Amino acid sequence: MAVAKLAERVPLLLLLIIIQTWAIALLGVLPIISASYIPPLRCCGEMRGRHMQWMQTHNKTYKDPTEHEHRCCVYQTNVNFIERFNSHAFSFNLTDNCFADLTNEEFLQTHRCLGTSLDETKKAQQNQMKKNPNCPNISDKPSVDWRDHGAITPVKDQQQCGSCWAFSAVASIEAANKIKNNATLVSLSEQELVDCDISGSSSGCSGGFMTQAFDFVQQNNGLTGDANYPYTGVQGQCNKTKVLTNPLVAIKGYMNVTSNSEDNLADAVTGQPVSVAIDAGGYLFQLYSQGVYDGPCGTTLNHGVTVVGFGTNTNDGDYWIVKNSWGAHWGEGGYIRMRRGVPQSEGLCGITLKASYPLL
Ligand SMILES: *[C@@H]1O[C@H](CO)[C@@H](O)[C@H](O)[C@H]1NC(C)=O
Ligand SMILES: *[C@@H]1O[C@H](CO)[C@@H](O)[C@H](O)[C@H]1NC(C)=O
Ligand SMILES: *[C@@H]1O[C@H](CO)[C@@H](O)[C@H](O)[C@H]1NC(C)=O
Ligand SMILES: *[C@@H]1O[C@H](CO)[C@@H](O)[C@H](O)[C@H]1NC(C)=O
Ligand SMILES: *[C@@H]1O[C@H](CO)[C@@H](O)[C@H](O)[C@H]1NC(C)=O
Ligand SMILES: *[C@@H]1O[C@H](CO)[C@@H](O)[C@H](O)[C@H]1NC(C)=O
Repeated sequence: MAVAKLAERVPLLLLLIIIQTWAIALLGVLPIISASYIPPLRCCGEMRGRHMQWMQTHNKTYKDPTEHEHRCCVYQTNVNFIERFNSHAFSFNLTDNCFADLTNEEFLQTHRCLGTSLDETKKAQQNQMKKNPNCPNISDKPSVDWRDHGAITPVKDQQQCGSCWAFSAVASIEAANKIKNNATLVSLSEQELVDCDISGSSSGCSGGFMTQAFDFVQQNNGLTGDANYPYTGVQGQCNKTKVLTNPLVAIKGYMNVTSNSEDNLADAVTGQPVSVAIDAGGYLFQLYSQGVYDGPCGTTLNHGVTVVGFGTNTNDGDYWIVKNSWGAHWGEGGYIRMRRGVPQSEGLCGITLKASYPLL
């Protein structure tokens, strides 16, 4: 009986839907005739206010209303996902951070900053180096956090420049200077690397390598300070005057950490902060807020960061403490804690595959 009644109504429902569709199509087309046409914010209706507020918080502007609508749609999609994700109790949560108006494809395209040959995991495995005999054998130490030793400068922001390799290398050198030279912590110049370390595969804002940055610093009698050669976020002409007049920290070379072992990495980090390459291209990495990130992620090494410690606690388990260069508004004050002690030898996101640190 009920089924029959519904069946009677179907044609009427269909008719109504068809009329409605036409009406919407007509209303959508009509305004285009007007010269000052502004596309209606259809998909982001309910999220419009929140998106505007988010734009203010993150100092975002868009070039025109079309772009604005599109970004709002992406934002809404991301926020819906974030809210669904956060309704479950995972080991980390997400937030509408500065990347919340980008699709993951766009994020991937704009945040690759390592030379392409780092993608080859196989090469990493072939290139295993002997373990540094001087490295202290104390990885069973429950935790290290070089921030507590005043060895880490405030989180920096690489901006729209594929210079993570420079930030990763510089953070390791800054810390080594403080730890090994017992020097005052001083912020060093990423811009010198972006502008001047342009031979080989290191190429300014188009991606580079931490190991080549270390080679450059060694061969050029040291790196100058941030204050002398401040960051601009674009690649410019190398200013040789700045470089030559004021080198602050020299290095003797660098050491590769033997890959495929979290123990080796922990040993190295116990001695000093270590530059690592990771796969940071995941959707969850993009929107990370706080907690211990445990993927999913691959081993396509596309980002350079610095491991400044590791720790463990009953709530969170074991983790690496990783300094990023996406500003202090991203993640845990610019840091991400990443799962340590995973089954795969390459570590989470390939963190053990290309680790290196400067020798002073
Ligand atoms: C936005 O700009 C203001 C003023 O320039 C600045 O104080 C603030 O830190 C900026 N916010 C972000 C998220 O960059
Ligand atoms: C993430 O989790 C922490 C701790 O439970 C909570 O304080 C914070 O508000 C959460 N953030 C988001 C964006 O859900
Ligand atoms: C370091 O640890 C390894 C493996 O646990 C052990 O074989 C080696 O003897 C240790 N070396 C030192 C110097 O303690
Ligand atoms: C390190 O420097 C501090 C302050 O300059 C000094 O008090 C301390 O003795 C130094 N430590 C070593 C091991 O040289
Ligand atoms: C290079 O640096 C020097 C010293 O800071 C400065 O006087 C000069 O204007 C800079 N040159 C260029 C081209 O920016
Ligand atoms: C470190 O590893 C890289 C490959 O990632 C290699 O090109 C370089 O020669 C190695 N450097 C040292 C000092 O072992």
